[in-house]
Amino acid sequence: MRQVWITKRGGPEVLQVREAPDPEPKPGEIRIRVAASGVNFADVMARLGLYPDAPPLPTVMGYEVAGTVDRVGAGVTDFREGDRVGSTTRFGGYSDVVCVPAAQAQRLPDALSFEKAAAIPVNYITAWLMLVTLGNVREGDRVLVHAAAGGVGQAALQICRWKGAEVIGTASASKHARLREMGVAHCIDYRTQDFLAETKRVTGGRGVDIALDAVGGESFRKSYRALAPLGRLYVFGASALATGKRRSLVGAVRGLIAMPAFRPLPMMNSNRGVQGVNLGHLWNEAARLKGIMGEILALVAGGTFDPVVDRTFPFEKAGDAHAWIQDRKNFGKVLLTP
Ligand SMILES: NC(=O)c1ccc[n+]([C@@H]2O[C@H](COP(=O)([O-])OP(=O)(O)OC[C@H]3O[C@@H](n4cnc5c(N)ncnc54)[C@H](OP(=O)(O)O)[C@@H]3O)[C@@H](O)[C@H]2O)c1
Repeated sequence: MRQVWITKRGGPEVLQVREAPDPEPKPGEIRIRVAASGVNFADVMARLGLYPDAPPLPTVMGYEVAGTVDRVGAGVTDFREGDRVGSTTRFGGYSDVVCVPAAQAQRLPDALSFEKAAAIPVNYITAWLMLVTLGNVREGDRVLVHAAAGGVGQAALQICRWKGAEVIGTASASKHARLREMGVAHCIDYRTQDFLAETKRVTGGRGVDIALDAVGGESFRKSYRALAPLGRLYVFGASALATGKRRSLVGAVRGLIAMPAFRPLPMMNSNRGVQGVNLGHLWNEAARLKGIMGEILALVAGGTFDPVVDRTFPFEKAGDAHAWIQDRKNFGKVLLTP
């Protein structure tokens, strides 16, 4: 098999394609010939050495794939060779062959391309956990979505549209016109505008019912302040710690120091809540996540959700894929294809 390795901590050039023998599925696993692998911001953080969940380097990152089952392990009854599937991968997704527990995989609707399928698991399940499972997003709610044009941001936008909630989205200015076409009510250029002041202004001073923040650092504090009474802030990442193509410990520490400590009594008295979400720490909840993925795929099949694929890069250009994301050029999901 061919895999994209993060050979060491560093810039995008440390990503390299290497060959290895094909893995054999263990009992309960299926083997997938991968057609498309999702690239996530966490992979960039791992390359920078800023992602504590990543295996020690060198390693093969990748949290999700779509492709065709080419072998099933002992005891697997619900998949057969030739099935088109999507799956989360506990790393190793940047490979043209992966073995995964059958419990993590899902058969794909016939009309769904492998590219769109690989764009679904991490982004949609994460957004679903925050907005549907925990956030109880409802018609008329106002939702602040940071990086609204990004992978998770696009999934969040589609969930909000489905539920009839209004989205206030932050993004680089070049993405605003397309975001507005997609129904974002207010776009904020976080690099030239104060998103807290803007959010307060466009909500008549009230604030938002839900805020989704994976920027981190000072942003968590401001998103919390942007909440209306009974508002909920979901913290789920820290993109702000990635200050360049190489790790800057000074930049990362600055971001960590800027993070607020939330105190129970003020939270109680302001009727606001904060909750963390990390899909990468829910591997023991496979059945529950599979149920959520099933609901998402049904909504994709019915046309309610339509995963936005930004660009696909061949394995050899994986470094360019990381650079593309870090240069804030992506609108939607970035994928690798073997
Ligand atoms: N906890 C979880 O389970 C979980 C799951 C998935 C993702 N996440 C987190 O959610 C965030 C989004 O993930 P994603 O994979 O969907 O990526 P993404 O949003 O597509 O990330 C790239 C976009 O983020 C924006 N951005 C903000 N700060 C940035 C920075 N310092 N460097 C580069 N880009 C920056 C840029 O868009 P604009 O400039 O247009 O805003 C860029 O185009 C990440 O922090 C990720 O770690 C967490």
